Amino acid sequence: MNQFTEREIIVCQDIEELNRKAAERFIALAGDAISRSERFTVALSGGSTPKALYSLIASPDYRERVDWSRVHLFWGDERCVPPDHMESNFRMVQEALLSKISLPPENVYRMPGEKAPQDAAADYENELRTFFRPAVNAVPRFDLILLGLGEDGHTASLFPGSSALNEHNRLVATVYVQRLKAHRLTLTLSVINAAGQILFLVSGQSKAAVAKAILSSDSAAKDYPAARVKPIDGRLTWLMTQDAVGPV
Ligand code: 6PG
Repeated sequence: MNQFTEREIIVCQDIEELNRKAAERFIALAGDAISRSERFTVALSGGSTPKALYSLIASPDYRERVDWSRVHLFWGDERCVPPDHMESNFRMVQEALLSKISLPPENVYRMPGEKAPQDAAADYENELRTFFRPAVNAVPRFDLILLGLGEDGHTASLFPGSSALNEHNRLVATVYVQRLKAHRLTLTLSVINAAGQILFLVSGQSKAAVAKAILSSDSAAKDYPAARVKPIDGRLTWLMTQDAVGPV
């Protein structure tokens, strides 16, 4: 993170306030990006925390404030399962958001979790390169990347000790998560740290210890993947509920 990179920590009373603030930030970023470049590119987080946010964004008071025809939705990570599987991050977004908004289907860039992991990662990487057309050795720059935080410090599907953490050339990596006995697809840190705005959504007392270690730059935190999310020249925002911050 260079000295110009902004990092902000916003503490919310509860998950409802966190979701409202996240939804307002989403709408503001979308408006800025669309007025600047006629498109808004966002990589969505999986997991359970963001589902309520996606539902809120899909509600009339919020969805009417977004020009969905200019929005391009990607995923930050995916489980290697079919899109209708209960574990699928695509399915979660389909139910919470896509089924309620008028987003052109061609603006939805799903990670093909049903394919063999290596093929899925290669295909998605090609899709990113085709869409963003980055210069040689450059990395696609998302306007917004939403991230969650695991209790072990993982984010997207970058888990502690994963070789994907040291992947500097690929845009998309496959990981086998021993603890979960499951294959995953994930954007690499190169792509995450190239984003214009990275927004962590962190809620729950179970995240307090790991979040505190990361945000206080505790030496023990260096092995946490989420601690390596340091935008090159974008903005880093941690939206946290009070219980994830811990006792004041
Ligand atoms: C996933 C997510 C993952 C998630 C964290 C936190 O696919 O599960 O990308 O990184 O964000 O595990 O999950 P919760 O928000 O559900 O606690």
